[in-house]
Amino acid sequence: MIDVRDLRMRYGSHDVLNGVTFGVARGEVAALLGPNGAGKTTTIEILEGFRKRSGGDVSVLGTDPVRGTEAWRARIGVVLQSWRDHGRWRVRELLAHLGSYYVPYSTAESRRPWDVDELLAVAGLTELAGKRVRQLSGGQRRRLDVAIGIVGRPELIFLDEPTAGFDPEARREFHDLVHRLADRERATILLTTHDLDEAEKLADRILVLAGGRIVADGSADRLTQLMCAQAEVRWSRDGQRFVHSAAEPARFVHELFRQYGESVDDLEVRRASLEDAYIALVRASEQGRQVGEGRRAAAVSECLSNVSLKGASR
Ligand SMILES: Nc1ncnc2c1ncn2[C@@H]1O[C@H](COP(=O)(O)OP(=O)(O)O)[C@@H](O)[C@H]1O
Ligand SMILES: [Mg+2]
Repeated sequence: MIDVRDLRMRYGSHDVLNGVTFGVARGEVAALLGPNGAGKTTTIEILEGFRKRSGGDVSVLGTDPVRGTEAWRARIGVVLQSWRDHGRWRVRELLAHLGSYYVPYSTAESRRPWDVDELLAVAGLTELAGKRVRQLSGGQRRRLDVAIGIVGRPELIFLDEPTAGFDPEARREFHDLVHRLADRERATILLTTHDLDEAEKLADRILVLAGGRIVADGSADRLTQLMCAQAEVRWSRDGQRFVHSAAEPARFVHELFRQYGESVDDLEVRRASLEDAYIALVRASEQGRQVGEGRRAAAVSECLSNVSLKGASR
């Protein structure tokens, strides 16, 4: 559905994307995760055809977004990071009106637009159908943004920071909505977030964008394995503290007890969390970029092998 190779973006003399490469397959929910300013909005707006890239190859639904036609656009749903205001419109009227633009793009496989009642139900807006847009809360408004984005029943949905500023309840409702879209509609979804927890909850796949590149790519489980390969083992013996970093802590602890038996005390085994690893990875990528390209890879690999030692007295 999406194929990005060596994507580059430069604003003036500021390189924001330095060769971003990734793909998203049909039916996947992928999260583009990275700190503020990493270039997530830039990347997603290039894919949506709203910004012109400086270099690299991009294909979305088999088409270069800079040459996307109206028919191409009708197959894509877009929820921007911030949206202009419709204020006085009522929820149902607005969705019916916007939906009418998609009538010419209806096909045998995808009836367009989405039936308004069904769409209201999917977005959790049924009870709010008669309300004016300006009366909605932040969370309700964001669900309406999604309903507007998907009114043409898109095959591919882009969501830019969909839950920024939400309280926990609104966030959970929104996560349920994304799961419904993925499961019932089999939509392919690319969302951006700066929140690792959100990426973990929503996405089959997490792409970490830092220092202008994708520095990690995989499921949350796979990233945990990759990034948190080492565990930290701490113990004391004869009043002295020890710290050791081990890839196979069970084996190490077994050996420790075999050698020193009862004299081992205060044993503690800790694995770095995915969050520890993510923060270390982002820091290393950003620092690496400031000290030059050659050292970036070294900084990342050092971070990966040392992350479990964070805070240990070495
Ligand atoms: N139109 C623009 N002109 C100049 N610089 C921009 C423009 N848009 C974004 N930037 C800069 O590019 C960087 C990445 O921005 P953005 O893509 O919005 O990041 P994110 O969405 O990850 O927070 C930031 O340093 C931002 O200031
Ligand atoms: Mg952004």
